[in-house]
Amino acid sequence: MAPPKPDRRKFLKLATSAVGGGLGLIVVAPALRLLGEAAGSTTVKTPIDPIDVGAVERFPVDTPIKVTIVAAEVTDAWTSARDVVLGAAWVRRTGDKSFEVFSAVCPHLGCGVDFDGKQFACPCHDSKFALAGAAQPGAVAKRGLDSLEHDVTADGRLRITWARFALDTEEKRPA
Ligand code: FES
Repeated sequence: MAPPKPDRRKFLKLATSAVGGGLGLIVVAPALRLLGEAAGSTTVKTPIDPIDVGAVERFPVDTPIKVTIVAAEVTDAWTSARDVVLGAAWVRRTGDKSFEVFSAVCPHLGCGVDFDGKQFACPCHDSKFALAGAAQPGAVAKRGLDSLEHDVTADGRLRITWARFALDTEEKRPA
């Protein structure tokens, strides 16, 4: 058999390169896209919408009640999970439809804050917080408990917007 003519050889080289390059792009493009997305965007989305924690009547006036904040759905780039526990909050009803709501995360180093019957207390380094959230004298926490946004719906349901804040700082700022 005669060797391919120079023009035909050139064409075959170009065609092979084009097909190889195309296949390479098909394989590499999704990986590049994935890397780009991971670097440039938040992949895990937790709800920023208010979360229903129950009817107003559930909360007796002036007695702090601890509630678990549960998101109906949390999604990331690949999966989604239902009924995810985001954290906990202390709710004190101060009037007919008025509330004080604090994150149960200690602003010192993040332990869970309890209520001892008179004030809030963190068992980890013994910080105490007044009913209205202020850090008590002697507390190692640099600020009081972190208040959480909340509202009461027209049909009398308390809703809390969950958030996490930087630990061990004097000012409250998002984590
Ligand atoms: S974590 Fe609460 S006082 Fe240190």
